[in-house]
Amino acid sequence: SQNMPAQRPPMGWNSWNHFGGKVTDADIRSAADALVSTGMRDAGYVYVNVDDTWQGQRDANGVIHPNERFPDMKALGDYIHSKGLKFGIYSSPGPKTCARFEGSMAHEEQDAKTYAAWGVDFLKYDLCTFQDVMKAEPDPLLRKKLMVDAYTKMGAALRATGRPILYSLCQYGFDDVWDWGPQVGASMWRTTDDIKDRYERMFIIGNSEAELARYAAPGHWNDPDMLEIGNGKMTEEEYRTHMSLWALLAAPLLAGNDLTKMSPADREILMNKDVIAIDQDALGKQAVRVYQRGEFSVWTKQLSGGRTAVGLFNSSWTNFAPAVDLGKIAVEHGGHIHDVWMHEDLGVSHGELSLPVKSHGVRLLIIDPQ
Ligand code: DGJ
Repeated sequence: SQNMPAQRPPMGWNSWNHFGGKVTDADIRSAADALVSTGMRDAGYVYVNVDDTWQGQRDANGVIHPNERFPDMKALGDYIHSKGLKFGIYSSPGPKTCARFEGSMAHEEQDAKTYAAWGVDFLKYDLCTFQDVMKAEPDPLLRKKLMVDAYTKMGAALRATGRPILYSLCQYGFDDVWDWGPQVGASMWRTTDDIKDRYERMFIIGNSEAELARYAAPGHWNDPDMLEIGNGKMTEEEYRTHMSLWALLAAPLLAGNDLTKMSPADREILMNKDVIAIDQDALGKQAVRVYQRGEFSVWTKQLSGGRTAVGLFNSSWTNFAPAVDLGKIAVEHGGHIHDVWMHEDLGVSHGELSLPVKSHGVRLLIIDPQ
C-alpha cells in the first residue's frame, strides 16, 4: 500500500505564515469557510493544514492530545471534510517541534493512528529537534541514516493506518532529500530553509531549485515552501512573480495568508486559472532556467498539448524590455503567445520581440503551437 499519491502538486492553505504559534481552532474553521466562499476550493485549494503549536500533552498511555486552543481535533476534521476540504496536520520526528511542542519521536505508530482516527489527510513532518539527535552522531553517513530512518518510520506508520495520508517532508533540503524522498513515501519535500514575505528571499528560494527539475514528477514534488501572497510585505508585482515562479516550478501551492481579509488583487493572483493550470499541468514537469544574465532570467516549462510556459523575470530595481526570441526559446516552431497576467494575446512568435518586464516583475506567457 501507498501513502496518498499526489498526481498533481498539492494545493491548499497552511496556518504558519500568517498565524504562526497563535493559531486557534476558530482560525482554521474561518480559513476553511473562506476557501469555499472565495472560490479558492473550487480553484483547487483543498488542503487545510494546521502547522506547529496545536499539540498538548501525552496521556498516561502516550496518546497525544491537542492543547486548549484546539478543543476537539476529530470535530475539526469533520468540519473541514463537511466543506469538501482535506485536513492537514503537523509534527516532528524529534522529541519536540520547532516551537517546542510535543514531537513524535518514539510515538510514530501511535501518532499516525491518532491522526487517522481524527480524519487527517496530510502530515507535514518537520525535522526541528531531531537535529539535536543527529548532532550526537559524528559520522556524516550514519547521521544521514538516522534522519532517513526517522522519516521512513513515519512514512511506514502512516501507510499502516490504511488511511491515505499525504506525507510532506520538511527538513530544509538537507542530504539531497530529492534522492531519497520518494523511497520514504513522500509526496513532497522542502528544498530550503523558510521563506519570508520579502522579494529577495522568495526569489532566492525559487531560483535555488534551478538544478532540481528532474526530481519533480507526478507523485512527488520539490517544495520551495508555502506562499506569502497576501501577507502584505511584497508589492502586487512581486506577488505575481512569486505565484509565477511557483507555478513554473510545479510547486505545491499552499496559501499562507489570512483568507478572511484578502484584497481583490490577492484573490486574482492566487486564483488566476491559467497560472494554476501551469502549476497543475498533467505532464508534471518542473521548469528549467534556460537563460540568466545579470538580473534577467528566463524559465520554460513544458506543458501538455505541445505548449510551453515561459517566464521572463526582472530581478533588478529598474523596468526593462529585453528582446527575446520566444519562438526559439519555447518550441522549435514557435506559436501563439498568450500573456496570462495581462489576459492578452500577443500574436504569433517569429523573430525577436521586445517585452517590457517591470522591476521585480514577470511576464508569464503560454506559447501554443495551434
Ligand atoms: C519550520 C518550518 O520550515 C516552517 O514551515 C514551520 O513549519 C515552522 N518550522 C513551525 O515551527
